[in-house]
Amino acid sequence: MASRGNTFFSGLFSFVLFVFLGIFSAEATIKKYQFDIQVKNVSRLCHAKPIVTVNGGFPGPTIYVREGDRVLINVTNHAQYNMSIHWHGLKQYRNGWADGPAYITQCPIKTGSSYTYDFNVTGQRGTLWWHAHILWLRATVYGAIVIMPKPGTPFPFPQPNREEVLVLGEWWHSDVEELVKQGNKMGLPPNMSDAHTINGKPGPLFPCSEKHTFAMEVESGKTYLLRIINAALNDELFFAIAGHNMTVVEVDAVYTKPFATQAILIAPGQTTNVLVRANQAPGRYFMASRSFMDVPIPVDNKTATAIFQYKGVPNSVLPSLPQLPAPNDTAFSLSYTGNLKSLNTPLFPAKVPQNVNRNLFYTIGLGKDSCPTCLNGTKLLASLNNISFVMPETALLQAHYFNLKGVFKTDFPDKPPKPFNYTGAPLTANLGTSHGTRLSKIAFNSTVELVLQDTNLLTVESHPFHLHGYNFFVVGTGIGNFDPTKDPANFNLVDPVERNTVGVPTGGWTAIRFRADNPGVWFMHCHLELHTGWGLKMAFVVEDGAGPDQSVLPPPMNLPPC
Ligand code: C2O
Repeated sequence: MASRGNTFFSGLFSFVLFVFLGIFSAEATIKKYQFDIQVKNVSRLCHAKPIVTVNGGFPGPTIYVREGDRVLINVTNHAQYNMSIHWHGLKQYRNGWADGPAYITQCPIKTGSSYTYDFNVTGQRGTLWWHAHILWLRATVYGAIVIMPKPGTPFPFPQPNREEVLVLGEWWHSDVEELVKQGNKMGLPPNMSDAHTINGKPGPLFPCSEKHTFAMEVESGKTYLLRIINAALNDELFFAIAGHNMTVVEVDAVYTKPFATQAILIAPGQTTNVLVRANQAPGRYFMASRSFMDVPIPVDNKTATAIFQYKGVPNSVLPSLPQLPAPNDTAFSLSYTGNLKSLNTPLFPAKVPQNVNRNLFYTIGLGKDSCPTCLNGTKLLASLNNISFVMPETALLQAHYFNLKGVFKTDFPDKPPKPFNYTGAPLTANLGTSHGTRLSKIAFNSTVELVLQDTNLLTVESHPFHLHGYNFFVVGTGIGNFDPTKDPANFNLVDPVERNTVGVPTGGWTAIRFRADNPGVWFMHCHLELHTGWGLKMAFVVEDGAGPDQSVLPPPMNLPPC
C-alpha cells in the first residue's frame, strides 16, 4: 500500500511539476529596471563637469536579459533636458512605442516625468546597447544590453570562462550640448572630442587618468568573451589587444562564422563579440582603440587604452601597446568587413530574401545652405536623395497610428531625382537640396533591397547606417558607383552578415536586403551624430498586414505627450 501511495504521489508530483514547467516556459520572465536620469559631476582629464547619466553611472547600467524575456524599464527624468532612450538593435516587433527615437516613435520624456519601455526580446541573442536618442545626450547616456541565449542553448562556439563588456566612447572637456549649439549657430561642426574612452575611462596615455583606467584581470589558459560596443558619437574605431589575437563570433547580436584577427573595426552603433585566450607570457597588455578615417577630415586621433592584466602580475609592469592599423588603412577596413559572414547553420539560418519586391537607391550627400548669420554665410547639411530630413513636432508613429494629417508625407523618392557621376570629381555646386519630413511607405512583408551610395558632394566619407526595427543582410558592397546591371551578379545571397548598422565605404556603396515584416514607423540614419543632426536620416512607414498579429500594437497608456 505504502509503495503504491508513494508512486501515486510521485506521479502526481511530476504531473504538477510538468504543468508548472509548461506554464513557466510559455510565460515570459519579466525583468525590471529603473533608470533615473540624473546630472552628476564627473572628472576626466583633470577637469570636472556635470554630465547627464543613468543612475549616476558612466557608462550606465548593463541590462542583462535572456532571449524570450519581457523587459520593463521605467525611465524617470530628473535632468533639465528632454529625454528618450533607444534600445539599439532590439527589433521591437509591432511595438515601435518602445523603440525610443524622439519625435519618431515617441515624444520625449519631460523633466519630472516617467515612461516605461515595455518590450519582449524575441529571436535575438548577443550584445546590443542602449543610448539617449535626443540631442547629443548619448555622449554620456549609454550602456550595454546583454542577451543570454535561452536556458539550455549553448553558444555555437567554445564556452568562454568569463565575459566582459567593453564600451568605447568619446569624451569632451566642455559641455557637449553647448558645443553643439555653438556649432549650429556658426554652421560648422562642433569641436571634436578630447579623448576616446573604454568603459568611460581614457586610460593612462591621457593626463590625470591613472585612476581612470579600465583593467580586466585574466588567468593564463582561460578564454574570455569580450562584448565590444562602439558608443562613440562620430568616430569609427579600431580595437586591438597587444600580443593577442581575437576571434570574432558575433556582431549586432547575430552569430558570425568565426574568424581570427589582430584588430577589429567597429563603427558607431555596432557591436562585436570576440573570444580571446590568455595564452601569452603573463604580463600586462594594453587594449587600445583609435579612429579610422580615410579622407582628409579632421578627427579625434587620440588612443584610448585599457589593460588586459594577467593575475598575479604587479601593476609596476609597464604594458605594451598593440599595433593598430594605420588611421587611414582603407585596405584593412575592406578586408575586415569582407570577412564578416553569417554563421548560417540549421539552428541559426541566414534567411536572406532571394527575390526583391522593392528596389531602393539612396544617395548620401553633404552640402551647404545659405545662412546669413553663420560664420561663412553658409551652414553644413546632409541629405539622402538630396532631401535633408526635417524633424517633426509630433511623433511620427503616433501620426501614423492615429492617422493625423500634416505631420509627414510618404513621397520619399525610391531613387535620386537626377542621376549623376556620384563618386567622380568633388561636387561643390549647390544641388538645390530640399528639406522635408518625407517618409517611404513599404507594403507589409515585402522584400526590400536598398543600395546606399556615397557621393562626392563636398567630400566622400564613410557612413555607418542604422535601421531601426530590423536586422538586414549586407548582400554587397563596392567602391565607386553602384552598377545595377553588373553588381547584383556578385551579391552574396547565401551567408551575408546580418546586422542593424552597416558602413557605407568612402566613395562606395553598400546593398542591404530585409523583409518588411515589422509594421510601424522605423527610423534610418547615419549613426555619426554630426551627420544625423545635419539631416542624414529618413524613416520607413511599414504598413500593417492583414493578419491578426500583423498590425502595430496599441500605444501604452503612459506614452509621453508632445
Ligand atoms: Cu543607435 Cu537611431 O540609433
